Amino acid sequence: MNTTDQKWSKVYDGGKDFRPLFPVDLERIFALLPPDQKKQHLDIGCGTGGLTRDLFHRGHTSTGIDPSSSAIERAQAATAYLDRGINYICEDFESVTLYEGPYSLITCKLVYAFLQDKKKCVEKMSNLLSPDGTLILVTKIHHSDEDATPISVDGREVRSTLGQSFSEVRELDLEWATCFICRK
Ligand SMILES: C[S@@+](CC[C@H](N)C(=O)[O-])C[C@H]1O[C@@H](n2cnc3c(N)ncnc32)[C@H](O)[C@@H]1O
Repeated sequence: MNTTDQKWSKVYDGGKDFRPLFPVDLERIFALLPPDQKKQHLDIGCGTGGLTRDLFHRGHTSTGIDPSSSAIERAQAATAYLDRGINYICEDFESVTLYEGPYSLITCKLVYAFLQDKKKCVEKMSNLLSPDGTLILVTKIHHSDEDATPISVDGREVRSTLGQSFSEVRELDLEWATCFICRK
């Protein structure tokens, strides 16, 4: 078990989970997306896989990736459709080489704060997307050091990094987090 796996598996072994995107959030986000014919989805930092499953049940072929073995075990146990359109892999997005793809939709929810080389990761996400694909990145943002929490990121930094790899970056305020909808 590597250190990222150890750190996050301690969290998931305790039964913890994170606020999901509720149907109302998903409806608001999907209302802003163009139709997706290919429906090939990658969920980066999927945790226990709730969003991966939600998108699978909306018709996508979905892959969730997370470095926590405990999260992946929980994700795999929570679906009856493993390897039948939904797949979970235990890997670190920063170092993995993904042979599948391109993806028409990539999601990355409450993960950006924990990525070491954010610019490189966003470039990698962009390269994994089909030309008409969409990245949905959900993160908590702070506007000053006083507002910062371990799971939040500087709003200016994330906007600037996304803007370097995507020509269109739209923002949706979900009230509890910000959703960035990015297209090449
Ligand atoms: C706050 S949790 C969010 C999990 C899930 N996206 C959700 O919203 O329920 C952060 C997740 O990011 C994962 N993570 C951390 N570093 C990562 C990396 N380098 N590549 C992929 N996932 C990573 C952790 O294992 C953890 O599951």
